Amino acid sequence: MFVYSIFMTRYSMLELPILQEKKSESALPSMQDLSHQPKLYVETYGCQMNVNDTEIVQGVMNDRGYAMTDKPELADVILLNTCAIRDNAEKKIHERLNHLKYYKKRKKELVVGILGCMAERLRETLLEKELVDLVVGPDEYRSVPELISKAYSGERGIAVKLSRVETYDDILPFRTEGISAWVSIMRGCDKFCTYCVVPFTRGRERSRAFASIVDEAKSLFDQGFKEITLLGQNVNSYRDEQSGHNFAELLDACAKAVPEMRIRYTTSHPQDMSDQLIETMAMHPNICKYIHLPVQSGSNRVLSLMNRTHPVEHYYERIEMIKKLMPDCALSTDIITGFPTETEEDHEATMELMRKVRYDGAYMFKYSPRERTKAWKMGDDIPDEVKVRRLNEIINQQNVIAREINQTLIGKTEHILVEGPSKKNPMEWQGRTDSNKVAIFPQNEHAPYVIGDIIPVIIEKASSATLFGRLT
Ligand code: SAH
Ligand code: SF4
Ligand code: F3S
Repeated sequence: MFVYSIFMTRYSMLELPILQEKKSESALPSMQDLSHQPKLYVETYGCQMNVNDTEIVQGVMNDRGYAMTDKPELADVILLNTCAIRDNAEKKIHERLNHLKYYKKRKKELVVGILGCMAERLRETLLEKELVDLVVGPDEYRSVPELISKAYSGERGIAVKLSRVETYDDILPFRTEGISAWVSIMRGCDKFCTYCVVPFTRGRERSRAFASIVDEAKSLFDQGFKEITLLGQNVNSYRDEQSGHNFAELLDACAKAVPEMRIRYTTSHPQDMSDQLIETMAMHPNICKYIHLPVQSGSNRVLSLMNRTHPVEHYYERIEMIKKLMPDCALSTDIITGFPTETEEDHEATMELMRKVRYDGAYMFKYSPRERTKAWKMGDDIPDEVKVRRLNEIINQQNVIAREINQTLIGKTEHILVEGPSKKNPMEWQGRTDSNKVAIFPQNEHAPYVIGDIIPVIIEKASSATLFGRLT
């Protein structure tokens, strides 16, 4: 169940981890008179950075007088903010584009655009699709309004230059949800893991200004937000150019600036998981005790082929340090099965690592070869049925471990940030623990919860992915 899935709303997204591919739709501020404004509909695929980028694009478009709609049939402009991480992420977009033809048939002047990582990767080839009017990469979102204006007059456009400086620092993201906010603190990735397309689609690492991030955290608190997640492909590489402050210092400053807000971050690379960062997390009660620390493989041979830049021993040592300073800290990871040349022995090493670390959650993927990456040249020699079998083995083992961990919480009280009615059963509500686990609980008839409350819930039942409880 931890293999990525599609999400349609903010709430189902919360059950999923970070920086994975999935799909969301733009939310709408209610009670807005949309009748006279042009309307924009955006679908977001991919990781949380894309979710925040969509808010940035919506911010830019809102400034130009556009209203947001969650109904594609009402839209004047439809944008797909895409992901290129695995082949199936791109396949989904091609399928979606086929569907969008029907909207264009009904409304000839409809403008359709592709944003995001797939736009950056495939560039002009996307314009070959008759339907597509504009193609815009992750560093060119300021040009979206102009390209849309040109599209109205029949000119199709592309903007895919990557930047060494663009951080959209001055753009106010268009946020509608009101409780949890994504805050991008850096963009790009310089790690060049050999399987990964991100350094090619998002370009070089660059960090946003320290003071502007702390100010944004304060302003989100003033607006009533209860939780922020600091985002980057590798947040530990954060470095403020002016002051030289690192990520641990940024986290510390945010924790002090908004002591009543929950603070999360994602994702970190094991190589850069410093003592200072772990100590900072341990020091502040409002920094959530949850770390997503992708390992990808338990085999040193494979880690080296992946250019992960650390042996598995380093990873164990970091986990030990985390557990020493924060015994209750929840951990999750990413795993790839079937990387080129992966043997049964390598696979068993991954299984063993997962048994030793005992993750609360894991996001597990079949290796998907990506053009331009180093691994592309290594071939794709592991047959699909072997990849699938190995994937199923790690998923099954992980589910058992996660259920066991969650069941140790039965009888304990967890503090849950209330996110709203549960999607499966609207009679029940859902929220998340500090450790990022989804909890389901009944509404309190006598003192109803409202979204954004933090309430004590006693856990009565637990599955591998969800806790069930009642108000203490
Ligand atoms: N920057 C994050 C990862 C972003 S991509 C990090 O390094 O932690 C999210 C996950 O997708 C990766 O951790 C990896 O497990 C998976 N992934 C990336 N490229 C992949 C590929 N070519 N095939 C399969 N999975 C891949
Ligand atoms: Fe990709 Fe590696 Fe960068 Fe993560 S750290 S985005 S896996 S290159
Ligand atoms: Fe994110 Fe997918 Fe791009 S995971 S960075 S949207 S390739």
